[in-house]
Amino acid sequence: MSETRPLVVAANWKMHKTTGEVDPYFSEFARSAPDPAAAVEAGVEIAFFPAFPVLERVALALGDRAGASAGAQVCHWEDEGAFTGEVSAPMIVATGATRVLVGHSERRRLFGETDETCRKRIRAALDHGLAPMVCVGETLEEREAGRARPVVVRQLTRAIEGLEREEYRRISIAYEPVWAIGTGRTAAPGDAQEMHRGAREVLTTLAGPEAAETIPILYGGSVKPENARELLGRADIDGALVGGASLDPGSFGAIARIGVEIGR
Ligand code: PGA
Repeated sequence: MSETRPLVVAANWKMHKTTGEVDPYFSEFARSAPDPAAAVEAGVEIAFFPAFPVLERVALALGDRAGASAGAQVCHWEDEGAFTGEVSAPMIVATGATRVLVGHSERRRLFGETDETCRKRIRAALDHGLAPMVCVGETLEEREAGRARPVVVRQLTRAIEGLEREEYRRISIAYEPVWAIGTGRTAAPGDAQEMHRGAREVLTTLAGPEAAETIPILYGGSVKPENARELLGRADIDGALVGGASLDPGSFGAIARIGVEIGR
């Protein structure tokens, strides 16, 4: 646990939820979520990454709830142009969203995302005032071959090497072992802590020790209320990026409450 960085509990809705489902979700979430003032007091931020068609509605539903923000699941690196199907950083900013996910493993695996395209997206996000959450993580084959750490070091370095000192303070990282996403398998909290420690060392090299201490490194991969406490209690695990369990406002609210209990 650290006093220099927030604990971020983030929902990745992936390709789920239509317009009509947003308001009922947030009515229910308001009942299960921690009190906003208590969350701020504990240094906990809550973030939602919905699909584009409901992004503006989610940003509106959050309104001025303290410590809560909305973000997109991806952004293109150009501001505008002939890129059918793509969405740019300025378009995201115009919805009221303040964050964007970059390099989620589903984007890498299913849609050809590379370290180089991640880098370009991060550049565009930062240039337009969005806070990128950069996702990294090894596959099962890479882990079994003993390459988990070098893979994560490579992904992280290629994505964020050479940013300005002030820009490092605006990013967050999500370590998500690919074999743990949507599978019900979670990394052992000790193993996850080790990977987070390693990622922090990379950040120290890239951004300097002071900035590295301010960057939240979230864990993702089958986080649910039952395992959140053990994960969030580790020194270098600064939050959770939650997929499946975030679709249910009760479960996601419970994870956020655990975040506040652990606090900072
Ligand atoms: P999961 O997804 O919680 O369903 O494993 C996490 C993610 O992909 O961000």
